[in-house]
Amino acid sequence: MYKATSYSLEETKKFAHLVLKEVLNNKEKITNGGEKKATVLVLKGDLGSGKTAFTKCIGEILDVDGEITSPTFSIEKRYKIHVDHNSSEYKDTIETCGLETLIHIDAFRLESGKEILAIDFEETLKDPKNLICFEWPEMVSDIDILPKNAPIVEFEFVDENTRKMYFSPSQNTMELQGEEDSATN
Ligand SMILES: Nc1ncnc2c1ncn2[C@@H]1O[C@H](COP(=O)(O)OP(=O)(O)OP(=O)(O)O)[C@@H](O)[C@H]1O
Ligand SMILES: [Mg+2]
Repeated sequence: MYKATSYSLEETKKFAHLVLKEVLNNKEKITNGGEKKATVLVLKGDLGSGKTAFTKCIGEILDVDGEITSPTFSIEKRYKIHVDHNSSEYKDTIETCGLETLIHIDAFRLESGKEILAIDFEETLKDPKNLICFEWPEMVSDIDILPKNAPIVEFEFVDENTRKMYFSPSQNTMELQGEEDSATN
């Protein structure tokens, strides 16, 4: 488990770097039983705790097309990750992992988990080219659709500019590496 206290968006971005490194370095190990699937990052935390801010950081770090805005009214937004003209330090990793799309999902307004099936989420999960940041996983817990071993980032509101963040790498990764404990702040 990684923990950090962030006092600014810059510090939140540093934590996003840490999460991204861990997740992409272990992408092959996280796939289920050798079957390639999308990479899912589960984002938990109250309203305003920083889930979308964190996703924006991921988008900036990966140099995606366009600016990440809250998808609250559309459930899902997709952002292209170009491999050829990519200025991020992750260019090579993006290529190795075959990532092409960052998908930001905010399930807050769903009335039942089944509604996520209407936007073809099952197909989205099957595509190894997808990196999915998923806000409000609680809203789809009734249909048990998110991969059980997906890494989880949890956010806590402390005060206006302060957030606590916790990152649990996937179960598979922890089994392979042993659980790490580090406080980045
Ligand atoms: N240290 C910090 N890290 C991240 N965000 C911060 C920090 N300090 C202040 N903020 C602000 O907190 C707000 C977090 O809002 P954000 O939309 O990311 O929350 P959220 O968890 O996605 O909420 P929701 O569940 O409503 O979608 C942003 O306006 C952001 O600028
Ligand atoms: Mg949000």
